[in-house]
Amino acid sequence: MTTNNNPIKYVLVTGGSKGIGKAICTRLAREDCHILTCSRHSEDLQVLKEELSEYSGQILTYQVDLSEKKQVKKFAGEVSKVWDQIDILVNNTGTFQPGSILDEAEGRLEHMMDTNLYSAYHLTRALMPLIRKGNKPHIFNMCSVASQIAYPNGGSYSISKFALLGFSKVLREELKNQGVRVTAILPGATWSDSWKGADLPKDRLMEAQDIAHLVWSAYELSATADVEEITVRPQLGDL
Ligand SMILES: NC(=O)c1ccc[n+]([C@@H]2O[C@H](COP(=O)([O-])OP(=O)(O)OC[C@H]3O[C@@H](n4cnc5c(N)ncnc54)[C@H](OP(=O)(O)O)[C@@H]3O)[C@@H](O)[C@H]2O)c1
Repeated sequence: MTTNNNPIKYVLVTGGSKGIGKAICTRLAREDCHILTCSRHSEDLQVLKEELSEYSGQILTYQVDLSEKKQVKKFAGEVSKVWDQIDILVNNTGTFQPGSILDEAEGRLEHMMDTNLYSAYHLTRALMPLIRKGNKPHIFNMCSVASQIAYPNGGSYSISKFALLGFSKVLREELKNQGVRVTAILPGATWSDSWKGADLPKDRLMEAQDIAHLVWSAYELSATADVEEITVRPQLGDL
């Protein structure tokens, strides 16, 4: 590992092949960080790898379904084989399916919790030894404005995002005295694959790069400052 004043950062972003995760990988690759990411589809990961190949850091990608605990643990094991520290972990993977609690399909809550909460819970626990060895280690959890307010058609997605914010708050308390910063990011509507085909003016939603910029800005603060929560909405408000 580099030992100068500005060592290269080791950054793991889950779900980095699209949308907000991809914007974060790109932003941090531009800062010459090493990037490790994962998703379920290897073709998208290959595209990402090619797009980021102009930057100086490593770009490592893994095909993993983080909704399955076994795969999460195996993935953490693979990460430990290639890196012995993580400076920034972004628990970004998530999936959104609209619906209402009373009408949505059986199993929807389980699927949302597996993908949006348990993925972050199991991965963070498994990677903690590497995070503890990081330089100014920082964990980001990609929550949502749906972590704070219920809204029509939020259904089980909203429940899982409330839970992820709870996870983030508890982790913050537990790591306060251990030199590990924890930030919950709560974005409103942001252009990404989840909004593909939406017939809305471009300026009605935020750009994924805006969220990536917030991640880097929060990380850049001194180690004595922890941005606990960032809520960010489109200028025109929620949809
Ligand atoms: N966009 C918004 O308006 C918005 C607002 C608030 C919060 N968020 C949150 O921000 C995060 C990113 O959202 P996004 O809109 O950028 O989504 P997106 O464009 O759909 O990208 C999601 C990423 O996660 C990966 N992924 C999904 N399920 C996975 C699984 N089971 N295992 C591994 N990887 C998986 C996807 O790749 P594969 O499909 O190939 O697996 C992709 O790389 C999510 O947690 C979302 O809830 C988004």
